[in-house]
Amino acid sequence: MTAFSAYLVVVFVVLSVASARNKSPLIDEEHVKTRNKAAECVFGKQVRELGSQWIPDLGVPIGVLYCMKCECIPFQRKRRIVARVQCRSIKNECPEPTCEEPVLLPGRCCKSCPGDTYSPDVIQDIVPQNIIEEEEKSVKHYAALLTGRSSLVLKNEAISHDYNKNNVVATGRFTFHKKNLHYSFYISEKAARPRSLHFLDSEGNILEDFTLSHPGGLVTSLYQNATRKVCGVWKRLPKDYRRMLKQEKMYVVLIWGAKDAEFTLSGQLMRYVALATEQFSSLLEPAPGTDPTLMAGTGGTAIVSISTSVSSSLHIAIIFNGLFSRDEILEVLLNVTLTLDEKKQTILQEDVRVHKPATNLNLVELSSPVTQAQLRLLTRGRLLLSISSASKPEALRLSGNVITKATCELFQTTLSSNPSDHNGNPYGTSGLAWMYLNNQGSLIYSVQIDSLPPKQYPIITLVDLSTKRRTELEDLTPYFHDGWANGTLDKLSPKILEPLYNGKLDVNVAVSNYTAIHGRLISKPVADARDAAAPILLKRENYTLPASAVGLAWISVDSDCHIHYDVTVSGLGTDKKLDLDMELYPMIAPGAPFISKHLEEFQDNQVEGSPVEALTKEELSRLDSGVNFIKVKERDTKVILLTAIVTKVKVPPPCRAPYTDNNVPTLFDHPEVVSTGECFYEDKFYKEETSWVSSREPCKMCFCQNGVPKCDIMTCPQLDCPTNNVTVRGECCPVCVESLTNRDTTPQKCIFNGRTYSPGSKFNPFLIPTGFDRCTECECDAKDLEIKCTRLNDNEKTCCKNCNKSTVNVDNPMNDDQVPLIEINYPPSRKEMSMKSAELVLMEGGCKNLNNPVKPYHNGSEYHPFIDSLGEYKCVTCKCQNGTPKCQRQHCDSTTCKRMIEMRRKKITINTSDFCCSLKECRKLRHRKNRKPHNS
Ligand SMILES: *[C@@H]1O[C@H](CO)[C@@H](O)[C@H](O)[C@H]1NC(C)=O
Ligand SMILES: *[C@@H]1O[C@H](CO)[C@@H](O)[C@H](O)[C@H]1NC(C)=O
Ligand SMILES: *[C@@H]1O[C@H](CO)[C@@H](O)[C@H](O)[C@H]1NC(C)=O
Ligand SMILES: *[C@@H]1O[C@H](CO)[C@@H](O)[C@H](O)[C@H]1NC(C)=O
Ligand SMILES: *[C@@H]1O[C@H](CO)[C@@H](O)[C@H](O)[C@H]1NC(C)=O
Ligand SMILES: *[C@@H]1O[C@H](CO)[C@@H](O)[C@H](O)[C@H]1NC(C)=O
Repeated sequence: MTAFSAYLVVVFVVLSVASARNKSPLIDEEHVKTRNKAAECVFGKQVRELGSQWIPDLGVPIGVLYCMKCECIPFQRKRRIVARVQCRSIKNECPEPTCEEPVLLPGRCCKSCPGDTYSPDVIQDIVPQNIIEEEEKSVKHYAALLTGRSSLVLKNEAISHDYNKNNVVATGRFTFHKKNLHYSFYISEKAARPRSLHFLDSEGNILEDFTLSHPGGLVTSLYQNATRKVCGVWKRLPKDYRRMLKQEKMYVVLIWGAKDAEFTLSGQLMRYVALATEQFSSLLEPAPGTDPTLMAGTGGTAIVSISTSVSSSLHIAIIFNGLFSRDEILEVLLNVTLTLDEKKQTILQEDVRVHKPATNLNLVELSSPVTQAQLRLLTRGRLLLSISSASKPEALRLSGNVITKATCELFQTTLSSNPSDHNGNPYGTSGLAWMYLNNQGSLIYSVQIDSLPPKQYPIITLVDLSTKRRTELEDLTPYFHDGWANGTLDKLSPKILEPLYNGKLDVNVAVSNYTAIHGRLISKPVADARDAAAPILLKRENYTLPASAVGLAWISVDSDCHIHYDVTVSGLGTDKKLDLDMELYPMIAPGAPFISKHLEEFQDNQVEGSPVEALTKEELSRLDSGVNFIKVKERDTKVILLTAIVTKVKVPPPCRAPYTDNNVPTLFDHPEVVSTGECFYEDKFYKEETSWVSSREPCKMCFCQNGVPKCDIMTCPQLDCPTNNVTVRGECCPVCVESLTNRDTTPQKCIFNGRTYSPGSKFNPFLIPTGFDRCTECECDAKDLEIKCTRLNDNEKTCCKNCNKSTVNVDNPMNDDQVPLIEINYPPSRKEMSMKSAELVLMEGGCKNLNNPVKPYHNGSEYHPFIDSLGEYKCVTCKCQNGTPKCQRQHCDSTTCKRMIEMRRKKITINTSDFCCSLKECRKLRHRKNRKPHNS
């Protein structure tokens, strides 16, 4: 049999078995909606790198095909190189065994003898999957200059040789990290956003392509619109391409216009030392008044950095072409100037020499000391960089403003309290911050703060951590509203940039005298998930988790309908293994059918990616308009640690499903669907008339009234502590330190209304529908762990200090979730007070009295329940225990039964309820007695 027919036979067998399952990686290859990436293979649910080999595993019922070998091979389709899976049988490649009795080892295709080394089923050159080579962990920087002249380097017919009459210039910055290549472009203002981007090899073959804009489409990314940059990422470069990049043999092409009237610019990805410290960039274009013929197709880019080690100095690297006359071939003198644009005031003027001019690419570098005032001008984008020919300065000159670094990046952090400070953050205050620089050098920032203590106004500052003094640089709180400080720092101090780029800038939030949260800003490239409008704050699931636990998530859906996510968590410790899950609900309603998706496992405290299997249109529709949650769970226990509600993911219309029965219009279209009588609060449903503690703020209690959650925040009764007081995690009010000193391994606590209280703590009971009763003080008695409540005189200062206000915390800026705070009117009316004493009994663990609601049963008391037709029903005895009646029916015993039977025999009418026994039960009792000897 030839190799070819063997392949056919095997594939035929596989196909016929697989068609029953209607899903097999071998045949589904063409249909699976992959991520539209040409340079990798998708087999089953796994992404395979170009060049990798594997033995296919088709799962149940086929299993592993040991005599097949698959490979992800490159394949030329016109100018494009695409990857494709190729599988073949290796059975007839098996070497002839050299011994008499060869054996077939498990997991092998070929029989072998002891000592045989070669076998085709041992894959020799597998590219390891998901293993990042050591050297790829470090970040590598590349840059490209795209001009009419640099485009000529690629001598490919398909690339237009337009001399670029409008002299459009573009420059790219590339960072390669962990197999991913992030790209950023600055393009002449005279050009629109390009249609697409290609990465090419030196032959002009397309290695990968990206769509940058759709016809007539606006730029949906806020960041890219605000900065005019073009941002994105090429994920998982195959090994060969990584090598190509390293050897500077990779090119980029930007393409404008329709297919038949294309305009392109291209350039080569090169490494420059200066890129590692780049803080500013410049795009250099032919200066006004220069010779258009001599300057055709020319341009440049500058990499600018500042060092402030001893004194401030400026370093400029300029990559350019043009500027040379035909006769200038060696040691050509050029003139570099940096001027204040309007006033033509010269900041820097230096002559540089080019040893051997090249048509497409030249590099000059210079350094110069600068003053603080000059740095400030630089930071604000006011300086113009020019480079001109010394011989013909008027005709041959390139110039451009020095502006924010061309790389697409933002800075982000979670904000949380110090994990070691257990009592410093009783409200579980947390938050997030992100910011970026626009082209004018302004810092655009957004800071979100959640669960602020009542009536606190935070002070948010940027702090430089690189100096010992921890200098406060800027105040970000001239404006704080609804938990957000959004703003722009226009006149940015140059002192901010260096710590910002070096990861030494802290966002510090002083919440109150005793609480502070903070986080250090980290630079992240803008692409995929991080190109969404705003990140989402993940909050701890409930207050039993440390107050420092917090997360930041970015979620987006691209135009190919793939979801991207990037989640960073902090304050959960380093020992936990974490998972990221997503739950998609069509609307908020109890029992709504939800789709649960496991997205990915965390690596340390971060997870970034996109599921291999695309989401279905229904799932994407829910993502777009439903109510969704992302949850960070502990992998082994499945305990939910952090959650966030996700409502504003923009899904491109073609990715969404039309309405179907299963995909009903949502809450936001039809608010009536939620009127189920249950309250939805902090990701949970609560029944009407029930109360609960906010899972995130231990001082906030809520109850459900007519389907609307209403909340109140407790002000703790004053304590008289000999020394100091502390707040125990999960509790609202502090206790004196003394009462915690002799605590054993399992501290004893009072339990009241489903909440625990440390001995010695004081609190106000929570009543429905009025909220915390500030005129009643309860205490957890340290001796017998009982709750003792005292009603304060209305005139007592402690009570009325809080009572006089008609509303509580109306000015609380953090009225999160739009839950109304209860209005409390004081002093309460007489009727309310009598109601309250009944309710107080209930609060103290008493039980409802259906016959007389004003007189509930006290906690611990025994009673007979009241039954409408019978009155008090003596055959049942109840004991009220912490709000729940535990009831027992009296059992028949033989004495009672004997008496009943006796009376019956004497024809005396009996009322069985007087005996709490029926004759039927007596017969049963006798039966059981009689049967006993048989069973034993
Ligand atoms: C894009 O930027 C322009 C100019 O900065 C601004 O006027 C416009 O509103 C922005 N568009 C969006 C969608 O943000
Ligand atoms: C460089 O330019 C400056 C200002 O444009 C001029 O004063 C200076 O003479 C020039 N230097 C050379 C070597 O041409
Ligand atoms: C601040 O910005 C965020 C994110 O863009 C937005 O959700 C929020 O509503 C803004 N808040 C205010 C008060 O402007
Ligand atoms: C907290 O700060 C406020 C104002 O800044 C001050 O009046 C008050 O005394 C401080 N309280 C404590 C306990 O330090
Ligand atoms: C807090 O969350 C954990 C994990 O989900 C759960 O086991 C525990 O019962 C929750 N506690 C409260 C008070 O909700
Ligand atoms: C706890 O102590 C602080 C200062 O040590 C004091 O301001 C506060 O009022 C005390 N809290 C209570 C509830 O007594």
